[in-house]
Amino acid sequence: MAGHVLIIDYGSQLTQLIARKSRALGYYAEILPAGLPLEGPLAEKPGALVLSGGPASVEEENAPGLDSLILSSGLPVLGICYGMQLVARALGGRLSREASGEYGPADFFPLKPEPLFSGLNKERLRVWMSHGDRVEEVPPDFEITGRTKDLPAAAMAHKTKPVHCLQFHPEVHHTEGGEVMLRNFFQAAGLKPGWKMSSFARDAVADIKKTVAGGKVILGLSGGVDSTVAAVLLHRAVGSQLHAVFVDNGLLRSGEAEEVSSALRKSYPDLNIAVRDASEEFLRRLKGVSDPEEKRKVIGKCFIDVFKEEAGKLGKVDFLAQGTLYPDVIESVSPQGPSALIKSHHNVGGLPENLPFTLIEPLKFLFKDEVRALGSELGVPERLLWRHPFPGPGLAIRIIGPVEEGDLALLRKADFIVREELESAGLAREVWQAFAVLLPVRSVGVMGDGRSYGKAVVVRAVTSVDAMTADWARLPSDLLGRFSSRIINEVPGINRVLYDISSKPPSTIEWE
Ligand code: XMP
Repeated sequence: MAGHVLIIDYGSQLTQLIARKSRALGYYAEILPAGLPLEGPLAEKPGALVLSGGPASVEEENAPGLDSLILSSGLPVLGICYGMQLVARALGGRLSREASGEYGPADFFPLKPEPLFSGLNKERLRVWMSHGDRVEEVPPDFEITGRTKDLPAAAMAHKTKPVHCLQFHPEVHHTEGGEVMLRNFFQAAGLKPGWKMSSFARDAVADIKKTVAGGKVILGLSGGVDSTVAAVLLHRAVGSQLHAVFVDNGLLRSGEAEEVSSALRKSYPDLNIAVRDASEEFLRRLKGVSDPEEKRKVIGKCFIDVFKEEAGKLGKVDFLAQGTLYPDVIESVSPQGPSALIKSHHNVGGLPENLPFTLIEPLKFLFKDEVRALGSELGVPERLLWRHPFPGPGLAIRIIGPVEEGDLALLRKADFIVREELESAGLAREVWQAFAVLLPVRSVGVMGDGRSYGKAVVVRAVTSVDAMTADWARLPSDLLGRFSSRIINEVPGINRVLYDISSKPPSTIEWE
């Protein structure tokens, strides 16, 4: 998509906000982790580059550096925080490390008629800072465009070239005028606003058509929002060249394969969907595997093998489409280490390197709420759009320890109760995800007149906007009570129910 904003991510937790803010202003933005080759993304002709903040110190060994193509591209550049420091160092400025850094609000005084601040007719703006290093001396041909009380060079710009830098974060809500600064930057860069979800759908359909041409595409349906929306998008682009395969890996929730495939068949009668029951194969390969990363790898590998078999039945298949989202990418890829590898989401990290298909991931720069908006744009039934996210490795990562068939049956029942009760309480949409986790821990109970020695189930319910951060849901205590009494009464073998009150970070949403 030419004329978009390309954000180079140096690992700041706020990078995603730059993308969202840009899109909300009508400018399409993509994020590229620092350290990955720039030639390809530049060939897609972005209209402006934004360099994000990052946790490293520019002077540290192994800190992500500034790719020389960034400044030589001649594209307008906005450097934010770490991005500003990178530009300053690359062009001959001087940096220093502060003893204590500066975090939180600061009063910023815009100094020169810098186009970024136009329309902000204030002498003082409240901005949000988060940095340990500072620019002491701006590079030759740059001028200081703003200061704070303690920071003489809190913003700088090149005297003749479109390179602008801010030490503070315009993307955060707490920076006064931040949105105006971003909009001013995009306007000065000559970008045309007007990006909407409908334009994304239109452009994505055109891109997919061009890439796929006369080829055949296979797509794994998982029952989740992402693969459903990806399927509908691809179906719109290439119609019957798309072959969706719902792999029943034996790790699904109760009734899932049937529910999703029949809902899709009903709405899109000419969408090719095959349901393949591969549960025995998955469970056999998972036998005795208890390490979470190992489980993910085994499941990812098994998926690919099943796909290869299904693809084999279709003759020559050229593409594998996946509904990978941005949070999957960011938590699974650790390019030169700006953001740490948290988990290998099966549809990213678990894939073998030499795939026999070309990957198509049309949603990979979107967040879940944006995917739902896209789905709605494409007419995906509400019931499918508002399903809670469900991980590719399914219930396997909600059974702590080895995955046994009997445990899967227990967990399925408990999970069903959680979802049913949440829905009858009318809280399903307020919660990002709610599910049960089976612990290998046994405890003593008394049931009827006898002693029980059963397993424990943890109920996890979180609120979130994009799964990057999450908080435990403050569910009403009588609802928690119903989870507990129904699970203990209806699921033999479970005699204790706990509620998980951990947020993300430091915990993650799933237990494995
Ligand atoms: P975590 O546990 O990392 O999860 O906080 C964040 C979100 O991602 C989902 N998740 C996955 N989704 N494949 C997926 O497609 C995976 O391997 C995977 N692991 C976690 C999780 O359910 C939550 O919504």
